[in-house]
Amino acid sequence: MKVLVTGGAGFIGSDFVRLAARKGWKVIVVDKLTYAGDMERLKPIQDRIDFYNVDILDKLELKKIFEKQRPQTVLHFAAETNIDKSVIEPSIFMETNIIGTIYLLELANEFKVEKFINITSYEEYGEIKEGERDEDCPLNPRSPYAVSKASSDMLGQVYWRALKLPVVTVRLCSIYGPWQNPERLIPMTILKALRNEQIPIYGTGDIIREWLYLCDCVRAILLLLEKGKVGEVYNVGSGERFTVIEIVKRILKMLDKPESLIKFVPDRPGHEKRFAINSEKIKNTTGWAPTTKFELGLRATVEWNLSNRTWLFKKLFYYEDLWSRLYKEE
Ligand SMILES: NC(=O)c1ccc[n+]([C@@H]2O[C@H](COP(=O)([O-])OP(=O)(O)OC[C@H]3O[C@@H](n4cnc5c(N)ncnc54)[C@H](O)[C@@H]3O)[C@@H](O)[C@H]2O)c1
Repeated sequence: MKVLVTGGAGFIGSDFVRLAARKGWKVIVVDKLTYAGDMERLKPIQDRIDFYNVDILDKLELKKIFEKQRPQTVLHFAAETNIDKSVIEPSIFMETNIIGTIYLLELANEFKVEKFINITSYEEYGEIKEGERDEDCPLNPRSPYAVSKASSDMLGQVYWRALKLPVVTVRLCSIYGPWQNPERLIPMTILKALRNEQIPIYGTGDIIREWLYLCDCVRAILLLLEKGKVGEVYNVGSGERFTVIEIVKRILKMLDKPESLIKFVPDRPGHEKRFAINSEKIKNTTGWAPTTKFELGLRATVEWNLSNRTWLFKKLFYYEDLWSRLYKEE
């Protein structure tokens, strides 16, 4: 198996790369190494992969990689991924997530790849007050991030319908686990709690998300690479849904830190209250089911971050600047 992985130095992509390399596959990674990418995630298998520090918006360089490597399959993880940041800096999200995806689809079509796994997000369905969304529900993206991901998602489907490029679309719920950048709720809470700093929570912290542990997510993607039907869309979720405040309180308890560290800040306008997806289709197609319950996964994530504090604290200067722009006081 010869796989080209975009965004392979990111949180989820790197876990897939580690797994694929351990399976003895030929892995080609394309990653721009933005603030979100980090080669440390790939250290244990670095000498077993071909790494290209390339922007997916650089079509000429991308084409050279396709010409040289001739990958059988493409797993497209590369993206700008911070939803809150997309509200204040949307253009880079449209460039990377939409134009970058088009370039990859064009090249995958030109070089006749056997499967293109397009990684997208449950945010594309938009807010849902009750129940859950399945793959046939209409998309209703509400943030610039979700708009860019829905565009990437639909472009992939168009390439299947119009050109028979074998695209499988994977809509992930919120993923958490080791190696996640502290711009996301769980590692941010751990980092701030360890520094005894106030933890900013939008509104009353009542927004609800669905949470899946990293290794369960990557196992699902691997199974969809093997067994996913081309042209189809698959939701990948756990069914485990929690409010933000509930998660933050659990982490503080695990770290033996006081709840007084929580600081409520004004919510951002249009913040979607609840996302929830139905993941029966992947279960029926591949036999996949999540194995790590949230409580266990959260504990493992807290422990991983405690043992890897140096990494967690590494880009603090970047995140401090980001937080100051995102979380404004009254
Ligand atoms: N993490 C989640 O909870 C979650 C949920 C749903 C969907 N997703 C999707 O899963 C994928 C991976 O998410 P993640 O959390 O690992 O993201 P991440 O932000 O940790 O990693 C993104 C990676 O893409 C790279 N990248 C960004 N712009 C690039 C460009 N122009 N060219 C090449 N590389 C570029 C970055 O350097 C980084 O290594 C994304 O497509 C994201 O939209 C993630």
